[in-house]
Amino acid sequence: MNDADRAPLAAAMKAYAASGALAFHTPGHKQGLGAHPLLRTLVTEEGLRAEVSLADELDDLHRPEGCIKEAQQLAAKLWGADEAFFMVNGTTEAIHAMLMSSLSPGDEIIVPRNAHRSLIGGLVLSGARPVYVSPEQDEVLGIAHGVTAEKVRRALAEHPAVKAVFAVYPTYYGVASDLCEIAEAAHEKGVPLLVDEAHGAHLCFSEELPPDALSCGADLVAQSTHKLLGAMTQASMLFRKGARVPAERVRRTMSLLTTTSPNYLLMASLDIARLQMEEEGSALVARAVRLSEELRKAVNTLPGLWCFGAERMGRPGAAALDVTKLTVNVSGIGMSGEEAMRILREKNIQAELADARNVLFIISIADTERETARLFEALQSLSSEHEGKSAASVLSVSVPPNLTTALSPRETFYAAREFVPLMQATGRIAAEEITFYPPGIPVIIPGERITKEAVGYLLEMTRMGMKVTGAQDVSLSTVCVVK
Ligand SMILES: Cc1ncc(COP(=O)(O)O)c(C=O)c1O
Repeated sequence: MNDADRAPLAAAMKAYAASGALAFHTPGHKQGLGAHPLLRTLVTEEGLRAEVSLADELDDLHRPEGCIKEAQQLAAKLWGADEAFFMVNGTTEAIHAMLMSSLSPGDEIIVPRNAHRSLIGGLVLSGARPVYVSPEQDEVLGIAHGVTAEKVRRALAEHPAVKAVFAVYPTYYGVASDLCEIAEAAHEKGVPLLVDEAHGAHLCFSEELPPDALSCGADLVAQSTHKLLGAMTQASMLFRKGARVPAERVRRTMSLLTTTSPNYLLMASLDIARLQMEEEGSALVARAVRLSEELRKAVNTLPGLWCFGAERMGRPGAAALDVTKLTVNVSGIGMSGEEAMRILREKNIQAELADARNVLFIISIADTERETARLFEALQSLSSEHEGKSAASVLSVSVPPNLTTALSPRETFYAAREFVPLMQATGRIAAEEITFYPPGIPVIIPGERITKEAVGYLLEMTRMGMKVTGAQDVSLSTVCVVK
C-alpha cells in the first residue's frame, strides 16, 4: 500500500514538498527558507518544508474534494460516523459547531451543569438557552460524575420545547454515564444528542472501556484526537451520524467557524492519528488498559493513597470507567491534590490535573512499562515520605441549589458589566462563572441570579481556603455582575 492510500492528506503534503515548486505564496517563511533558526530547531527543516497550503493538490478544508475529503472519509469510517470534520481549533471549536448546527437563537438545550467552559461559548454563539441538569456527586472523592438518564428524561418532560440534549462523556476523570439510555430519552422526543467526547477518542478500540458515544446513538460527537491519541495539540474531530442534524448545516457552521488558513501539519496529524489507530489501535489501547490496571493495583498497596477503579462504578451518573484515567486520592497522606502535584513535579513527574483531594494521571497509547514504573516509584516515595500524617479533613461538597437563569449566556455576554463586593451581590445577575474543586460544579454561571445561599457558600469556601476557578477576582472580595 502506498502513502496516498494509507494517509492521503499527509501523502499530498509530502509530495508537494518533494516537488520542488518554487513558492510565491504564503506562508511567509516559504517552507522554512526564511524561518528563524529557533523555529527551525523547534519544527525541524523537514517539518517546515511540509508546512504548506494553497496548492490545488492540497485540497480545501472549506470545500473538500480531494485529499482532505478522503482523509475525513477514512476517519468517519474508522470511528463509525457518516461524516467527519477535521478541526484545527480543538474540541472547543467542535463544541461551538455542534451547538450552532443544531440550535437557533432562543432554542432550549439540556446541558450538564459541570460542562467544560467551551459549552458557554457555544451558547453565546448560538444564542441558545441552557436548561441545566445537575451531575451526580461523589462525596468521598469530591468529584462530579455524569448526569443520570432519569434526570434528562425529567428535564425533557418539564421543558417540552427543548431542541437538543448535550452530554459530557466520559468526564475528565474517565467516568462514563449511561449514555445509551440518554440517547434513547433524547430520540424518543425527536431531538439530537450532542456529545462532548473530548476524553473518549480511544474508547471504540477496546471492549474493556465504556462504549463510545457514536455507538450509543449520539448524533454529533466532538473528540479531542490530540488529548488521548496521536494528533498534535489543537487537532480534534467532529463526527455526524444520522439525519437529526442536517449535514448541510453542519458543513456551513464548520466553515463559518474555521480559519481560512488551517495549518496542514495539524490536519495531517489527524490523518496520521487515524492511520495509527487503524493499524494498531486495538493493541495500543489494550496495552494502555493493562498498564493502567497494573499501576492502579500497585498504587492501592501504598499507604495513604487510593486509586478508585471499576468497583466504584454502577452508581448514579457513573455506569462505567475508562480505566486509563488514574485518579489518585491523596487525602490519606494529609495533603491536597494540588500539593501532591507540586511535589511530584519536583520529582520530574507532571500530572494532568489536581483538585483538593486527587491527582489525575493519563496513561495513553504512548506509555510503556518504563513510564508507569517511574510514576509508581514517585508515588511510592510520596507515600513513604508523608505516611502517617493525619488524613486531610473531608469537606462537605454540597453546592447550593441551582440558581434561576435571568439572562441567556449570549445576553449576558453582550451586557455591560461591573464588579461589586460579594456581600452586595445578592439579587444581581452573574457575569462570570465561579467553580470550586471539589466538587467541580459551578456555583454561579453567567446569566444566573445570585442568591443569599450562593453568597454564603462562596464566603464559606473562601474562608476554608478553597481554590476558586473562573472568577476574575480570585480573592472573591468582588464578583463580576451585569450592570
Ligand atoms: C471535557 C472537555 N471538553 C472540551 C474541552 C476542550 O477541548 P480543546 O482543548 O481540544 O479545545 C476540554 C479541554 O480540556 C475538556 O476537558
